[in-house]
Amino acid sequence: MSLPIRPARGSAIDERTLRAAPSQARLTGPGGPSTPTWAYSDTIPGPVLRLRQGRPVRITVENGLAEDTTVHWHGIRLPNAMDGVPGMTQPPIAPGSNFTYEFTPPDAGTFWYHPHADSLVQLGRGLAGALIVEEAELVEFDRDLIWLLQDWRLAADGQISGGFGSAMDATMAGRIGNLVTINGSAPADHGVRAGERIRLRLANAALARMMALRFEGHRPVILAIDGQPCDPHEPDDGRVVLGPAMRVDMALHMQGKPGRRYRVIDEFYDGLAYTLATLAYDKAPPLRVHPLERPTALPRNPLPEPDLAKALRQEIVLQGGMMGGGKLAGVGGMMGMSGMNMGMNGTAAWAINGMSMTGDGHAGMVPQFTLRRGVTCHLTIRNQTAWWHPMHVHGFSLSILARNGSPVSHRQWQDTVLLAPKDTVECAFVADNPGDWMLHCHVADHQMAGLMTVFRVT
Ligand code: C2O
Ligand code: CU
Ligand code: CU
Repeated sequence: MSLPIRPARGSAIDERTLRAAPSQARLTGPGGPSTPTWAYSDTIPGPVLRLRQGRPVRITVENGLAEDTTVHWHGIRLPNAMDGVPGMTQPPIAPGSNFTYEFTPPDAGTFWYHPHADSLVQLGRGLAGALIVEEAELVEFDRDLIWLLQDWRLAADGQISGGFGSAMDATMAGRIGNLVTINGSAPADHGVRAGERIRLRLANAALARMMALRFEGHRPVILAIDGQPCDPHEPDDGRVVLGPAMRVDMALHMQGKPGRRYRVIDEFYDGLAYTLATLAYDKAPPLRVHPLERPTALPRNPLPEPDLAKALRQEIVLQGGMMGGGKLAGVGGMMGMSGMNMGMNGTAAWAINGMSMTGDGHAGMVPQFTLRRGVTCHLTIRNQTAWWHPMHVHGFSLSILARNGSPVSHRQWQDTVLLAPKDTVECAFVADNPGDWMLHCHVADHQMAGLMTVFRVT
């Protein structure tokens, strides 16, 4: 599948529409069962929005669902009023009405969009799409591909299983499914040509599934994380790790043999590795005779540089979740809740600094801390729980400084930072964008059950 590189020329403002509504999809292939889904503009995933760096866009979202929705443009640094958090940055979009989002993407890169209302169910039923912001200057690859990865929990008849927000999902690893799709289809052959160099953009749009992708016979080079260019490098142990909501852009040089097939394996969970996709080489001779040089870095985005010497320190401690022996850690005692219904239907199972904010966002959320505009915030995130958490900050990209006390080896900016159990991550950002901003775990069950907070920039 090849995507056009240049957007259509036209008026100065790029105009788009998305309609969220019930739909149907054949997730396991043309011969498989039809699954009732919720979709943007009738496709799973939603249409790939290709925008241009620095070019204003106006996106009208129509709500054809039977419940409120909003759209959050994940990773885009935009005005607070366009951030899509219901009750906090905008009123929710009621059934039958619409809302127009307007912003100018400052950064080129790979982003995505999804609802921020009834997030667990709306994302779990399929509402998600890729948002690609093209560099103002041309970046050359033979092909530019996006793989938007979704994880579905399907029953035997192909229907999406109910039971969203069960206590077990909420207090443990979240709603992990049983079918992973790439751009809406189950594992299939992806045709490639020997010698070509592909820019492969990966986006993990799963509710809860972490991924660690190994490309058999290939050596991917990571070019960008969460849309922000990094120093090109091969990943540790050759595996590309993606927590929910994370994106990685990589250069994939097709160095395999014509006519052969190579697997892409997701081996994040011990003993549960599966083949995500197969790279099927065309029989044609290699596109190039001479090997390519190492890929060069992508052009950097205009991110404000943190001033660490003058930084204001803040700390976020992640608490709660199920521990060994079936006990919830901390939260119960702190919140004065009793064991049985913990985590069910939006009750708290997690906390940040002793406070549980549940749901998708609402009016009157009290900020955890306030930053004066322009100040550098040195943020420490401490995971005291026994679980993995992809922690996401709205409106900013974070410069990652250190993990468990050791400086990180490559320049990296992220909007979603994956923390292993007991990890501590230090990062920094310039509070240059006023408003109330969300900071939450992107495992949807964890967010709904209290692993969320808000900070304010004035
Ligand atoms: Cu991608 Cu608050 O979310
Ligand atoms: Cu976001
Ligand atoms: Cu989490």
